[in-house]
Amino acid sequence: MIATSTLEISAKAYRQNIRYIRSEIGPKPTISAVVKGNAYGHGIAQMVEIIEKAGIRHFCTFSSDEAWEVLEHSKRGSEIMILGMLHLEEIPELIRKGISFYVFDFERLQRAIDVSKEIGIHAKVHIEIETGFHRTGFDWNQREKLAEILLENQDQITIEGLCTHYAGAESVSNFVRVKNQIARYHEFKDFFNSKRIAFKIYHTACSAATLIFPETIMDMVRIGIAGYGFWPTKETFFAKLNSLPKGNKNPLRRLITWKSTIMSLKAVKTGEFVGYGNSYMALENIRLAIVPVGYGHGYSRMLSNQGMVLISGQHCQVVGTVTMNAIAVNVSKIKDLKIGDEVILIGKQGGKEITVASFSESTQQVNYEMLTRLPKDIPRIIIP
Ligand SMILES: Cc1ncc(COP(=O)(O)O)c(C=O)c1O
Repeated sequence: MIATSTLEISAKAYRQNIRYIRSEIGPKPTISAVVKGNAYGHGIAQMVEIIEKAGIRHFCTFSSDEAWEVLEHSKRGSEIMILGMLHLEEIPELIRKGISFYVFDFERLQRAIDVSKEIGIHAKVHIEIETGFHRTGFDWNQREKLAEILLENQDQITIEGLCTHYAGAESVSNFVRVKNQIARYHEFKDFFNSKRIAFKIYHTACSAATLIFPETIMDMVRIGIAGYGFWPTKETFFAKLNSLPKGNKNPLRRLITWKSTIMSLKAVKTGEFVGYGNSYMALENIRLAIVPVGYGHGYSRMLSNQGMVLISGQHCQVVGTVTMNAIAVNVSKIKDLKIGDEVILIGKQGGKEITVASFSESTQQVNYEMLTRLPKDIPRIIIP
């Protein structure tokens, strides 16, 4: 089967990004690679291979289904940690397989303890605390009861980590909120230490916190977006600009290239409309290339009459509406095109580039959203 488009994933770019993160955090902290959302759209199977070859042995997933997928593809016995959803009935199997998970309420904690006792294997739990994100995490007023349960059951479960997540470390507008979160984290930590509860590791930082709030780098950092070569926001990039190596050259490299081919070529006369409705009328005689990628493949409808692709090293604009399976692009300025010629939706061709940022800007989507919407069934090919 040959798909209508392919995603190439550069292992070399990933290694470069990890080198940069390592240079920022120093030799000691563990890097956990965040592979939720199908590895930010890059493909869990491909990314597990790339990440382990880059020397990383720790993964974060959002949910248990993703954790099972990582386990299936992991060849180096890496640690897997679930940050969010799991079904309580899966806990015995997760414990047996050594998969660790966040605990943010008493029900999950109790179940982990009960199952550990029952099967005689320690659950590996990370205690998530509420510091201001207000999604998941034990509240400050639950700390006494939590400490009591943890102390009582220290011999039944492994209390792996104390963790939290910051509410927008990627923007200075959240500066006070993040600083307050850091302070609250330390209050929790001091409280648990005073009760002599020993956590094996402390971890709080995502990409933006790692880069902008170095005090959040503890025993482990949870790196998602930066590993895939994107700054969490432009602001994060500007904030780091002065300290960047080699004359401010961006040290992060995009892994992903999205390619398709020309499916059909067509001439349209002045005054004719292109595609559904009348959103685009040809103001002169034009030639179109039809590319078999549409919103069903993750190419947003918002890119109607706006998106750009590269063909023969030249920018060509999407004309008319993006349909479920195809777009039309204006190729009037390019000669000698034929069916099967390469089309770049994201990536470089002939010295020009379509970035994910440009893509996301015209759709009001953040990088994260655009990437994770890339359907799982587009083939991902690792480029070493
Ligand atoms: C708990 C947690 N840690 C780490 C990350 C990774 O964030 P980023 O991709 O910004 O590095 C996420 C992603 O949202 C998260 O939810």
